[in-house]
Amino acid sequence: MAIELPWVEKYRPEALREMIGQKDIVARLQSYVSSRNTPNMLFSGPAGVGKTSAAVALAKELFGKEFERNFLELNASDERGIDVVRKTIKDFARTLAFNADFKIIFLDESDALTSDAQQALRRTMEKYTKTCRFILSCNYSSRIIEPIQSRCVVFRYRPLSSKDMEERLREIAEKEKVKVDKKALDAIIYVSMGDMRKAVNVLQAASSIGKAVGEETVFSVSSRAKPQEIKEMISLALEGKFLEARDKLDYLMYEHGMSGEDVMLQIYREVIAADEKEIDSKTKIALMDVIGEYNFRLVEGANERIQLEALLAQFMKYKK
Ligand SMILES: Nc1ncnc2c1ncn2[C@@H]1O[C@H](COP(=O)(O)OP(=O)(O)O)[C@@H](O)[C@H]1O
Ligand SMILES: [Mg+2]
Repeated sequence: MAIELPWVEKYRPEALREMIGQKDIVARLQSYVSSRNTPNMLFSGPAGVGKTSAAVALAKELFGKEFERNFLELNASDERGIDVVRKTIKDFARTLAFNADFKIIFLDESDALTSDAQQALRRTMEKYTKTCRFILSCNYSSRIIEPIQSRCVVFRYRPLSSKDMEERLREIAEKEKVKVDKKALDAIIYVSMGDMRKAVNVLQAASSIGKAVGEETVFSVSSRAKPQEIKEMISLALEGKFLEARDKLDYLMYEHGMSGEDVMLQIYREVIAADEKEIDSKTKIALMDVIGEYNFRLVEGANERIQLEALLAQFMKYKK
């Protein structure tokens, strides 16, 4: 059997116009293609929303068949260190661009660099301004030192909308001859929270189980529970039924295989999404406070199960 390309690669946009969402950004990048010039850029935003895809598509449109020779993609957090990154940049930047005025260096995960390493990177950027343009990508622009930010045009990528994601997922499903009903699509969109990489991966994983994808399969291949299950657990705690709430938690963590963090994130989402009848706003505020505290404890490395049980116990204080 032929090895199947991961769908996230197979369906990566080849051109800027194939990108979904990020309308303003795409328009700006297209204007750079028309003028055949780009500034240094900082792409900031969450995972799976098109940062790498946009950089690659931009370079393909600018360079055409010389794309491979004029475009270098590097991961800034390369475990061999910033020196290797700089050496690679140097080797690449030393020679002139092919049939173009400059080459493009795409540095992924730039915010993983320490500020010392970022200073070094800044000097490297300056040194090669004549022959290279840099595109840095990061999750949080606040983690990028000011001198780099001020040398770049900053683009803020947003989580993708449900509508855009649904449309693209339908297209992929059709091409792959996979049947997905509306409920399954909604489930994929729910679990991926605007992250298209995740959405496409979940669709592929679910379809490897059967060519007709339903809601159940989607939740079983993702590390998310159905919203209903989380809602029930919260309600049980708020009704003072601790043991039953704990049974739900056990089910989610041990049978569904969710991590403490996964469960916490979904509790947060469902508390926020609850309407006034389900959880009144005063209680909501109190619960958010509890979630904040216990989330912090999880991040600090406390035992997941104990902390989540303790969180449910705290919720019981706000018994209706
Ligand atoms: N805006 C988008 N339009 C179309 N596909 C997208 C978009 N964002 C992400 N994807 C899909 O998700 C995959 C990962 O996207 P990528 O650009 O690598 O995300 P990022 O660099 O923001 O983490 C792509 O290969 C593509 O399949
Ligand atoms: Mg990326």
